[in-house]
Amino acid sequence: MSKLALLAMIFSAPAGACATIGSSTLMLRGGAGDGPDVSRPVPFVLLGCGGVGAALLNAVLDSRDVHALTHGLRFELAGVTDSSGAVIGQMSDDAVRSLLAHKEGGGRLCDLAPASGAEVDRATNAPAEFIQSVVRRCGEKHDGRCIVVDCTASGDTLPALLEAAATDGMQVASANKKPFSSDLDVFDRLAGAPASASKTRFESAVGAGLPAIATMQRLRGAADGVVRIGGALSGTLGFVMSGLQDGEPFSSVVLKAKELGYTEPDPRDDLGGVDVARKALILARLAGLRLELDDVAIEPLFAADMAEIPVARFLERLPELDEAMAQRATAAADRGNVLRYVGSVRVDAAVPGGGKLVVGLEEVPLTSPLGSLRGSDNLLEFYTGWYPESPLVLRGAGAGVGTTAAGVLADMVELAFARA
Ligand SMILES: NC(=O)c1ccc[n+]([C@@H]2O[C@H](COP(=O)([O-])OP(=O)(O)OC[C@H]3O[C@@H](n4cnc5c(N)ncnc54)[C@H](OP(=O)(O)O)[C@@H]3O)[C@@H](O)[C@H]2O)c1
Repeated sequence: MSKLALLAMIFSAPAGACATIGSSTLMLRGGAGDGPDVSRPVPFVLLGCGGVGAALLNAVLDSRDVHALTHGLRFELAGVTDSSGAVIGQMSDDAVRSLLAHKEGGGRLCDLAPASGAEVDRATNAPAEFIQSVVRRCGEKHDGRCIVVDCTASGDTLPALLEAAATDGMQVASANKKPFSSDLDVFDRLAGAPASASKTRFESAVGAGLPAIATMQRLRGAADGVVRIGGALSGTLGFVMSGLQDGEPFSSVVLKAKELGYTEPDPRDDLGGVDVARKALILARLAGLRLELDDVAIEPLFAADMAEIPVARFLERLPELDEAMAQRATAAADRGNVLRYVGSVRVDAAVPGGGKLVVGLEEVPLTSPLGSLRGSDNLLEFYTGWYPESPLVLRGAGAGVGTTAAGVLADMVELAFARA
């Protein structure tokens, strides 16, 4: 087709019209903006439409012009699930806005009145199979080409993600850290093979929008051996450590964090360190360590006999921990150090896949990047062949639905280009 004929087609096309040229389908005019939009439609199915999933849909709508003008892309929602059900079928931007309003008002997807061209399905009592069937149907409607975006916190998405990662044309973007921090075999299938770079992205699973995974992948790409990674990967525990540093009793700073909504409803979910361990495990695996979650030494910030008691009783008993914590903070300060809750990866270059991951309280020099951290930001120090003394450092918000969704959206753009 000549350029002139293409231009004539673009300017005479109605909004949303597509044309097939050779093996490519082009969106001629998008819904957003007034100008011609020669964009490649990129279908995606969204698993989970809570805080991050809804922020992602809003970000997709808000980015229409930038994606069209800068990238020549237009993301098309092919399906969306929540715990109640799914909406399947291509949705207009107005239909997506209605869906978002319905979810924001506390509605369930299974109760949504379907927009034209879409159908609503109720989840079965076998959630993993239901999700898998939704993803298959979305793929089938788009010639087997679809990005599967996991914005749940569920392990039930795993079969669908594994199937997508093994299927030509399907790709995976995930904010959910569980699939990448479960069995090593699963990690290998999702992210281990060389081809996974064009198939799978999971940037927001560690440090929300901070480019932690991208940094690891670039270091690996440059064959720059990672020696050590130190990561303050919990905003909640960062807040607690800053309070301790300022001389506040451990119990009061934990209760303050809970009041501010920084902790999970049960603060042991943060203080136990497993969430930090999962994130650090993903980085350790990317650094080549062949570790399972059970191999990680995790130091919880409460006594073993406080692990199983009711939350209210746990909160009552918190002051029992104050003295020991204050002593550790004072001893650290006497040495010019501060306490940080760190996921610490050490690579043993002499043993292929060797090394260890320790998660817990660490004394770090006050003048180091980790030592200078205050409040709820996340921070990562990468010591590598090219950064042996002065580490490569990433610092910024490590949570928040907006930054997390931004990380997922950037993953989706990269995936769209990876198969262009
Ligand atoms: N929030 C953050 O700041 C942040 C930062 C970094 C990473 N992340 C990660 O991002 C993911 C999403 O977090 P979020 O804050 O958006 O959580 P959320 O608000 O609890 O949303 C989770 C969504 O998943 C849906 N869901 C649960 N089980 C499901 C199933 N079996 N099938 C389909 N959908 C299911 C929920 O459905 P209902 O709507 O029906 O409940 C909800 O829509 C998590 O993995 C989290 O660790 C979050």
